[in-house]
Amino acid sequence: MFSSLGSLANSLSGPFSNMGRLLSSHPSRQVRELPDGTDTVRVDLPGNTQLLFVRDAAVMATLAERRGLDRGNGVNLLRSVFGTGTLFLMPHDTAHHRRAGEFNRLFSQRQTDASTPDIAARACRAVETVGAAVAAAPETPVDMQDVILRYLFDVGAWAITGVDVDLGAEVAVFRRGVDALHREATAMLKTALAANAPWTADYMAREARDAAREFQEAGRRMLIAGAERHGLADTLALRALKRYGIDPASVDASTRFPPGILVEVSMNLAASLFTTGNLIERTLDHFERHPDELRALRLSIREDFPAGVRDLPQLRNCPTLRALLPVMLAQSPVGIVSRDVVEPTEFVDGDGIHHQLRQGDAVIFDVEGMQARQALKLDQALSEEGRPTLDVLNQRHDDVMQVFFHGPNQCPGRFLAVADSALFLIEMLSSFDLHSLDRQRPLERGIVNRLGGSPLMRLSPVRPARAEASPVPATPTRTLPPSVGRAISPP
Ligand code: HEM
Repeated sequence: MFSSLGSLANSLSGPFSNMGRLLSSHPSRQVRELPDGTDTVRVDLPGNTQLLFVRDAAVMATLAERRGLDRGNGVNLLRSVFGTGTLFLMPHDTAHHRRAGEFNRLFSQRQTDASTPDIAARACRAVETVGAAVAAAPETPVDMQDVILRYLFDVGAWAITGVDVDLGAEVAVFRRGVDALHREATAMLKTALAANAPWTADYMAREARDAAREFQEAGRRMLIAGAERHGLADTLALRALKRYGIDPASVDASTRFPPGILVEVSMNLAASLFTTGNLIERTLDHFERHPDELRALRLSIREDFPAGVRDLPQLRNCPTLRALLPVMLAQSPVGIVSRDVVEPTEFVDGDGIHHQLRQGDAVIFDVEGMQARQALKLDQALSEEGRPTLDVLNQRHDDVMQVFFHGPNQCPGRFLAVADSALFLIEMLSSFDLHSLDRQRPLERGIVNRLGGSPLMRLSPVRPARAEASPVPATPTRTLPPSVGRAISPP
């Protein structure tokens, strides 16, 4: 369906206040306020430009491949914060093609499947560390954001370099940067200003920019650690050194790296943190608010993973993952993907209406809403027990997977994201009851969707724990309780 600003305004509160709200908030918030049943919504903006909200997966699949849609001036503000060499902000040029190709090869489904035991070992370690802290001081609340981020730093740095790198000291600056970004760079007005007058970007989001620079220390430490592996493995860190003409054998603690490579490596790590971190935190929150689902999930976990995930060779479809994965995807932190129209292009929407996009227009893809509509198809894709679960993320299943986008910018970290969050969640949810101190944490929609309020939780071990576990059935045949895996509509 197609609706102009006029009809949209009728369903909201009048064109002027609607425009004011549009400009003062983030499109991730706006898109949730669009009338139900609208697949393509156009909003006319001042200056004869239009903003198009796309909520039809088939249209997204078509437009994601078009050269006319790209990351253009609309990401000026974010580029000024993170750096122009940030892969998730690069336009479709040769440099992007090469770097995205490397990333996709090194983080492929095959690689991630092969890494499952290593990731699982880190998930077990993270949960055991929390267990020890809780045993020592049962009443002391745990900062779960910190626990999750430390785990993701471990996995991310290892995946990028091939070695363990202790980046615990960088957690605080990362959190500071994300908080500042939410405060300073959420309003669409700022994005629009930086798009039209690029010089203004430098005057915005100063705290976030300072934190991103400070976070480059994580990149420096990963490059030094990763260089030691030269000749042993092919990693993103070594690829980056090679592209910059730096001989890894010459790298040591005193090496001064060009700023570009530090941006590249630190932002690859950041991409894995502010997405997956929020997904895990929101999924824990979901199960805290849905105790029946949690009970049913724990029963599944006891049957499917009686010894936990340690030494698990691969994630394979089973009742646990069939229940868990849809909940995780519904808590995805990336609500929208936005694109600038850099060349005129046209398309026909699901209702047969012809749309013309002109240079300067902007397109917002509602990936969160589109994912929610794929619930049944996703459930079918996960229903074949014993098949590798990460299959649902490969391109043959693009119809069930929208949160990672499509086309040349489809998330290359998606296999890792699903594997590391599922492994952590299975261990954590089966080991502990978690109670937030802040009972009503609001969902803050912005550059990523995240929970506001306090991340402090009180943890108590689940009793009786694994002693009660029954042996793994040769072929699990249980049907899931109806409540499990239903929470797939956006909150
Ligand atoms: C829940 C977890 C995640 C979600 C929902 C997610 C989602 C997305 C989406 C929607 C995009 C396209 C953005 C755009 O084109 O504007 C993207 C791109 C990207 N993601 Fe992820 N992502 C996740 C985890 C990860 C992880 C773990 C990594 C790294 C290991 C990663 C690395 C990247 C990179 C480098 C890009 C840019 C790709 C390109 O432009 O070629 N992401 N992600």
